[in-house]
Amino acid sequence: MPPPATVSVLVPAAGQGTRLGRGPKAFVRVGGRTLLEWVLAAFAWADEVRVALPPGVSPPPAAANVRFVPGGAERQESVARLLEGAGGDVVLVHDAARPFVVPAVVDRLLVAVAGSGAAVPVVPLPDTLIEPEEGRYGPALDRSRYALVQTPQAFFREVLAEAHQLARAEGRTATDEAQLVQALGYPVELVPGDRRMFKVTFPEDLALAEALARVWEERPE
Ligand code: CTP
Ligand code: MG
Repeated sequence: MPPPATVSVLVPAAGQGTRLGRGPKAFVRVGGRTLLEWVLAAFAWADEVRVALPPGVSPPPAAANVRFVPGGAERQESVARLLEGAGGDVVLVHDAARPFVVPAVVDRLLVAVAGSGAAVPVVPLPDTLIEPEEGRYGPALDRSRYALVQTPQAFFREVLAEAHQLARAEGRTATDEAQLVQALGYPVELVPGDRRMFKVTFPEDLALAEALARVWEERPE
């Protein structure tokens, strides 16, 4: 299958990092680089990279294919703003909070999206999944029926733009792009993700990220 003609990488990096508690998360350092620097290095090959920054934060130095835009109050709004000026046939939306981008997963996404127009990486749940009831153990769900969804998420740019327009018109919000695309009635393909692409979210994730940074190679197995 031929690779897509052009790829725009959209990086929502405008969050406040409230759960991590270290200020805007994209600028938190792991292994001597900011989370955003990890992501920019991983996508240096892309035709363009567009990054949404928190309001009032000045753009850091970056390569010529990187553009910065002011983010919105919600992640979805940040992605909508990134999408407005994007020119690629395919867009890859990737959280700045996921510093470890596994190239094999990106390869799988690019192959899948070329055929289906929408593809996202998923990983299985390692733990038992329950619905707590007032702080006590509640019903256990069958974890084999569920998956955790990661980024990057890959779409034909026009499909994602239509999904965002519909969501805006209907006043719907979602925590990822695939939900918006699915709401169009457009099928979203799943490809195997990788647990190393975890989202740095809680304080203890920083210790995991530091440890992984020490053994990270450009093309990890
Ligand atoms: N994000 C964004 N614009 C927002 C909110 C979030 O671009 N208004 C981005 C974050 O920068 C992050 C990604 O969306 O790269 C995933 O969000 P999350 O992990 O929730 O990051 P934060 O919103 O920064 O963290 P928290 O929810 O703990 O405040
Ligand atoms: Mg958030």
